[in-house]
Amino acid sequence: MTEQQSDLIKNSYAKFLARAINNAGILYENLFEIAPETKKIFENTSNEKKSQMFVAIIRKIVKGIDEWDTVQKELEELAQQHKNYNLQPEYFQHLENSLIVTLKSIAEKEWNNDIEDAWKAYFKKVANVIKEISIQ
Ligand code: HEM
Repeated sequence: MTEQQSDLIKNSYAKFLARAINNAGILYENLFEIAPETKKIFENTSNEKKSQMFVAIIRKIVKGIDEWDTVQKELEELAQQHKNYNLQPEYFQHLENSLIVTLKSIAEKEWNNDIEDAWKAYFKKVANVIKEISIQ
């Protein structure tokens, strides 16, 4: 991950976040389309909770750029909770793909390959902390 990628994320973040809040639930709609088998995990999750999680994921990625140590600790705690959900390793790739599809759809013309690569790289960094602890 490069400094240029950090800047791309930070610069695209504010716009995406506002639109993400207005498109609550879209990340999970995309996830269920890409990987219908993940639907059952969220059976009891309200739409409000789903939109909070979407925003939380984006925020952790952005906060992690400048405050990785703090975010890492937060993710380690979140990971303990994720042990209860019986996650499969490929779910993280599915979530990454749906995040990219979602951001791309809300970014429209402002999207490009460099922005996409930056979000993918930072998503992986965040997701790997949860993945390594929650799947054993
Ligand atoms: C970057 C990786 C991920 C991050 C940052 C993340 C973040 C979160 C957050 C912030 C919550 C809410 C915790 C709370 O307030 O109680 C949550 C809950 C949850 N996550 Fe994740 N998550 C990640 C990956 C995944 C994946 C890959 C799955 C499965 C496809 C998943 C399934 C769930 C479920 C089932 C819940 C509980 C929902 C509920 O309480 O009803 N997470 N996650």
